[in-house]
Amino acid sequence: MREKQWFWVTLTLSSITLVALVFAAWELVENRYFRDANYLTLHYLYITRGVASSLVLAFWAAWFVLRQRRKSEDELRRSNERYRGLLEDFPGGVILYDKDLRVVEWNASAERMYGYSKAEILGRALPTVPPEKAGELREFMRQVDHGEPVLNAETARLDRNGAAFPVQLSLRPFSERDQPIHYLEATSDIRERVRWRDAMIELEKLTSMGKMAAGTAHHLNSPLAALLLRVQLMRERAADDHDLARLEEGLTFCRHFVRRLLEFSHMGPVQKDVQSVGATVESVAGFFQPVIHAKRATLITETADARGLDVCADRNLLETVLLILLSNALDAIPAGGEIRLRCRPLPSDRVEISVSDNGAGISQANLARIFEPFFTTKEPGKGTGLGLAIARNFAAEHGGSIRLESEPASGATAYLILPLLGVAARVAAAAEESRL
Ligand SMILES: Nc1ncnc2c1ncn2[C@@H]1O[C@H](COP(=O)(O)OP(=O)(O)O)[C@@H](O)[C@H]1O
Ligand SMILES: [Mg+2]
Repeated sequence: MREKQWFWVTLTLSSITLVALVFAAWELVENRYFRDANYLTLHYLYITRGVASSLVLAFWAAWFVLRQRRKSEDELRRSNERYRGLLEDFPGGVILYDKDLRVVEWNASAERMYGYSKAEILGRALPTVPPEKAGELREFMRQVDHGEPVLNAETARLDRNGAAFPVQLSLRPFSERDQPIHYLEATSDIRERVRWRDAMIELEKLTSMGKMAAGTAHHLNSPLAALLLRVQLMRERAADDHDLARLEEGLTFCRHFVRRLLEFSHMGPVQKDVQSVGATVESVAGFFQPVIHAKRATLITETADARGLDVCADRNLLETVLLILLSNALDAIPAGGEIRLRCRPLPSDRVEISVSDNGAGISQANLARIFEPFFTTKEPGKGTGLGLAIARNFAAEHGGSIRLESEPASGATAYLILPLLGVAARVAAAAEESRL
């Protein structure tokens, strides 16, 4: 409004100035050349002056108005370009469609997110709504019709290949002059966020399950010990009773198992100690045996080459890492598959612990990502994607390394390499032990 006023004020003032200038110039010319002109000449001069100043005024006003209009048009065009740029650069998909879901706008992010180019989709019916979400969209549109925009609703959309993915969606009305109401849909891809959330829930579930297992083990520990003692006493009286011998064996296994579970769930600060590689690997293999049986799989442990090899490591962490590698192998093999756990010394005082399986293997693309925290190919509830990240951290913390190799369709092998306890360190550790 102010701009309009300013426009008219400028136009009026400049016109008055112009007319005044024309009149002044005319006066000068008259005084100089027509001082002695007769009445008729003067009369014509007056008329000419009137016509000339009117013409000048008209041209000036026309030019002024045209210039102003061109300026406004330029500004409008620039503003339009700016809006289009904003729309295109907006990080989420922005789509405009009418009440029949016919698409009239489709920004660059939508092109990237859904895989349809703007040229091919304009005028077509929106193809990104999964059939089971069609009702929901109708409901959203009804809500918008009643003047209530939909904000940040979590739903799903389809990409060009028909794959559904989670999105966060906002829907608002969009009205243009002389046009029926349109719907402006803004969506952002929340696959990553949903994966993190699921992983967090899974982690939380595992943690509470671990705590529960520890509690159960704690409760079972004393009755098992009492039972075992009683059976041992009975065996002393009837040494050749086979049933009792088997009972004692079973109870000893349970006791050992429960104790390992307790030790395992007790996660203290990192405490590096001398660990025999062979003994640790065998103990973990024993601990893992029940789940191997449950899947009718085979676990082959080869520790003969590891005899006498020691590393300096946190026992609990080392076992955890071996369990991580074993569970990954177990997840990868089919029922009846085979896992091989092997230890062997490497040159320059290192030991290699490898876990091979004859499972599905890992694709080249996934192989590059498996150590990323939260990277998992398992369905929600089955994997957290933290196992290998923890394993790599452990290896780095213990001066070692870890890598996975895989031939697609012929299984995978994880190699954990740790530095052996140096001879000097071994002597020092032994001396320390004898002093205690
Ligand atoms: N032995 C294996 N065979 C096939 N794939 C594997 C194996 N070990 C790891 N992977 C792949 O690496 C991914 C990450 O493993 P990990 O960090 O332990 O997380 P998670 O087991 O929770 O998925 C797995 O989802 C899987 O795709
Ligand atoms: Mg895992």
